[in-house]
Amino acid sequence: MRKTIIANWKMHYGPVKAGAWIRAFRRERLPKNIDIGVAVPFVSLAAARSSLGRAGVPNLGAQDTFWANEGAFTGEIGPAMLKEFALSFCLVGHSERRQYLGETDEMVAKKAIALQKSGIRPVICVGETEAQRKKGETLKVVRAQLAAVIAEGLKIDGPASPIIAYEPVWAIGTGKACSGQEAMVVHEAIHDALVKKFGKEASEIPVIYGGSVDPRNVAEYLSTTHIDGVLIGSASLDPRAFGVLCRAALPA
Ligand code: PGA
Repeated sequence: MRKTIIANWKMHYGPVKAGAWIRAFRRERLPKNIDIGVAVPFVSLAAARSSLGRAGVPNLGAQDTFWANEGAFTGEIGPAMLKEFALSFCLVGHSERRQYLGETDEMVAKKAIALQKSGIRPVICVGETEAQRKKGETLKVVRAQLAAVIAEGLKIDGPASPIIAYEPVWAIGTGKACSGQEAMVVHEAIHDALVKKFGKEASEIPVIYGGSVDPRNVAEYLSTTHIDGVLIGSASLDPRAFGVLCRAALPA
């Protein structure tokens, strides 16, 4: 399977800086055999799209969506609006949204399915907290998060087929990366749960890892079985450093 690298700027870069990031990143020499994407704040999608011009890389994505396409939902942005930016993907269920905005498994599931109905590929984030890991609940938590999206009607085929991002909450932005081997156990459990539900085509659903990935450890993740890509927060904020990370991902 082709590997995937997705940058998540989180709450960084309004339109001016987003445009500058994209233009700088377009000057980077990039590996051709990896799918590279960037998840941009809503307000910067138009600037990022126009700075991309005809360039096909990076793929453009959003960081969240609402589950309805329109209506009386003040402040929200729905999949039909996002579609106007020709997005390749949209994150849902990032742990920071679960933690600071109270998003539940059910809300995340509704968002993922709404994206699929609009033809946008959901990148569904799952992962346990440090307390849950200490109690030995990692697989139980991750399976429950996944089960909620499956119950809501997840489809695994077509252009809006999902990507699952395993992001242990304790490893995000902390420098305490989960080792490739520790992550592999969870990735394997996710692949197994998907295959059990959907059959063996589900082994083609990418399961990517996120949490303190940087240019030094990226190759370790991408060479580990069951890890199909990476989601990068802080190490994506500088376009040149992110270019270095992309080149370090799959050493020749
Ligand atoms: P980090 O964030 O790379 O800064 O740990 C990853 C993420 O939250 O997607």
